Amino acid sequence: MKLANKIKVAIDSPAAAGAGTQAKLISKYFNLFYLDTGKIYRLIANLKLTQPKKYGYTLIKDKIKKLSLKDLQNKKLLSDEVGTMASAIAKDKKIRKLVHAFQIKSAYYPPKKYNGSCLDGRDITYKIIPDADFKFFITANVKTRALRRYKELKGLNNKISLSDVQKSIKKRDKTDYNRKVSPLMKTKDSILINTTNLTKRSCFLKIKQIMNRKLKA
Ligand code: C5P
Repeated sequence: MKLANKIKVAIDSPAAAGAGTQAKLISKYFNLFYLDTGKIYRLIANLKLTQPKKYGYTLIKDKIKKLSLKDLQNKKLLSDEVGTMASAIAKDKKIRKLVHAFQIKSAYYPPKKYNGSCLDGRDITYKIIPDADFKFFITANVKTRALRRYKELKGLNNKISLSDVQKSIKKRDKTDYNRKVSPLMKTKDSILINTTNLTKRSCFLKIKQIMNRKLKA
């Protein structure tokens, strides 16, 4: 589909609610440049976990300056341990400032071949793209999210139990919703999508319909 104007889609969601899956589907369908912003925090977390002595603020800053999309594809970034560390470092205002420019560039200046951009994270709808054409808050109940993440992690050969996954999701929710800097929240102008009882496909069709209604109006 070719669109006359570039469109910006902003998605916020708690961990494992299906936002990434939906963001990818929307991006493919509408030909949008997709950025999973959590991956940037995960990348920093992984540096901190693997080389804690080496990676202080200055080196992280250098690394983020040279950040490429390829850096974000590392499978190691998907682990639960990295996710928990990401949530801890994401509370830091200085760290958030470092990744801000990369996100703004992706949202407002996507490569020319795209019809626009789609970013998902925790503060996208109100901090990174406050003027987004579409804002979604994608969520699901904790049990469902834990089960989905558990299946995903199992697939990566992770030795992890469902109750461990549920615990760490709850912990991450607590940190992400309650932190002072850029907390996760649903803005008034975001459309709530609860994926608890929706399949990937039905969720995608719902979002697609919402977007097409406005785009074709
Ligand atoms: O989305 P994902 O689970 O990969 O994010 C990992 C962590 O990174 C989150 O728990 C959150 O604390 C942090 N994050 C954030 N702001 C974003 C994206 C992720 O604070 N825009």
